[in-house]
Amino acid sequence: MTIEKITLGKNGPLVSKLGLGCMRMSSVWGGKNNDEAESIATIQQAFDSGINFINTGDFYASGHNELLVGKAIKGRRDDAFISVKFGAIFYNGHMLGLDIRPNSIKNFINYSLVRLGVETIDLYQPCRLDNSVPVEDVIGTVADLIKEGKVRHLGVSEITADQLKKAHSVHPVTALEIGYSLADRQIEKELLPTAKELGIGVVAFANTAEGLLTGTLKAPLAPDDYRNHFSRFQGENLVQNLEKVDVLVNMAEEKGASPAQLAIAWVNAQGSHIMPLVSMNKRSRLSENIDAMNMAFTPEEMRILNTEFADGNLLGDTYLQR
Ligand SMILES: NC(=O)c1ccc[n+]([C@@H]2O[C@H](COP(=O)([O-])OP(=O)(O)OC[C@H]3O[C@@H](n4cnc5c(N)ncnc54)[C@H](OP(=O)(O)O)[C@@H]3O)[C@@H](O)[C@H]2O)c1
Repeated sequence: MTIEKITLGKNGPLVSKLGLGCMRMSSVWGGKNNDEAESIATIQQAFDSGINFINTGDFYASGHNELLVGKAIKGRRDDAFISVKFGAIFYNGHMLGLDIRPNSIKNFINYSLVRLGVETIDLYQPCRLDNSVPVEDVIGTVADLIKEGKVRHLGVSEITADQLKKAHSVHPVTALEIGYSLADRQIEKELLPTAKELGIGVVAFANTAEGLLTGTLKAPLAPDDYRNHFSRFQGENLVQNLEKVDVLVNMAEEKGASPAQLAIAWVNAQGSHIMPLVSMNKRSRLSENIDAMNMAFTPEEMRILNTEFADGNLLGDTYLQR
C-alpha cells in the first residue's frame, strides 16, 4: 500500500500524508532507548513504503535521536524530508526551559547538521516561542539560515494563532507542528482556521493522546508512569475518561480496526492539509498505521465521535492544554 503525498503549506514541498515521529525511539524522559536496530529498520521501511516525512528534535535524548536518524538516512538522503525542532533545554530527562536566542540557534543548527550527517535540514522549527526573544528575531534567524542554505523551510510548533500570524509575517511558515487528537480539540477554535487561512500545513502529533485513545490503558496507571503527572490520567478523571474511550473501542471492534488506528484515521480525515505525525518504533506499527490512513468514517460514525469527544468532554489536563 502506498502513501498519498500532499503539499505542505501553500506551494510547499511534497511530503507523505503520514509522518514518522522518531522521538520515542530515544529516551527523551529518561529510561532506556528503544532497540536501535529496530528503530533504524522502521525508518528505512517507512521510506520503502513512501513515507518521507520524519521528525526529530536536537533535544531528544541529547542528540541521540538525531544520530539515530543520521544512521538511518545514510545513503538515502533523497528519500527523507527531515523535520527538526530546536530550543528546548533538557537535563537528565527534565525540560529546564527554552533557549531560542539567535546565537544559540546558529550554534544548534551546526550540531544538528553534523549529527544528522546532512548539508541541509528540510524543515527547521523552534519547539516553542516565549517572550524572552522577539518573534522577529527567532524567525529572522531561521530565515537567515534558509538564505545560507542550511535550512529549506520554516516550521513552528505549539504556538498561538497570534504568534503564528506574527511569525508568518516575518517569513512564510510552511508547517505548524501541533498536538491534535479526538481528545485534544482546543486548536479547532482559532489556531487551525488561522493555519488554513494562511495556507500553512498542519503536522498533528499526539494523535493517540499519550496512549489514552489506544484502548489499552487501565486505571490506575503504574506508579512510575510519567502520565501520572497530568490530571487527565489521575484518579477518577482517568476512570471516567476511559469510559468515554470505550465508544472508540466499540466502534473499532465493529470496523475491524484498533482504537489507535481510528484515532489516527480521525486526524487524517480532518483535512488534506493535516498530516498525522505518529510515533512508530517498530515495523509492525508502520503497517498498522499505513492501513489506518485508508480507513474512512460514515457521517454517522463521525457524528458519534465528534459528539462523544467534543472539546472539553474529557476530564483533566495534559501538557497540551495551552
Ligand atoms: N512539537 C512538540 O511539542 C511535540 C511533542 C511531542 C511529540 N512530538 C512529535 O510527534 C511525534 C508523535 O507524538 P507522540 O509520540 O506524543 O504521540 P503518538 O504518535 O500518539 O504516540 C504515542 C504512542 O502511541 C503508540 N502507537 C502508535 N501507533 C499505534 C498503534 N497503531 N496502536 C497502538 N499504539 C500505537 C506508540 O506506542 P508503542 O510504543 O506501543 O508503539 C507511541 O508510543 C513524536 O515522535 C515527535 O516526533 C512533537
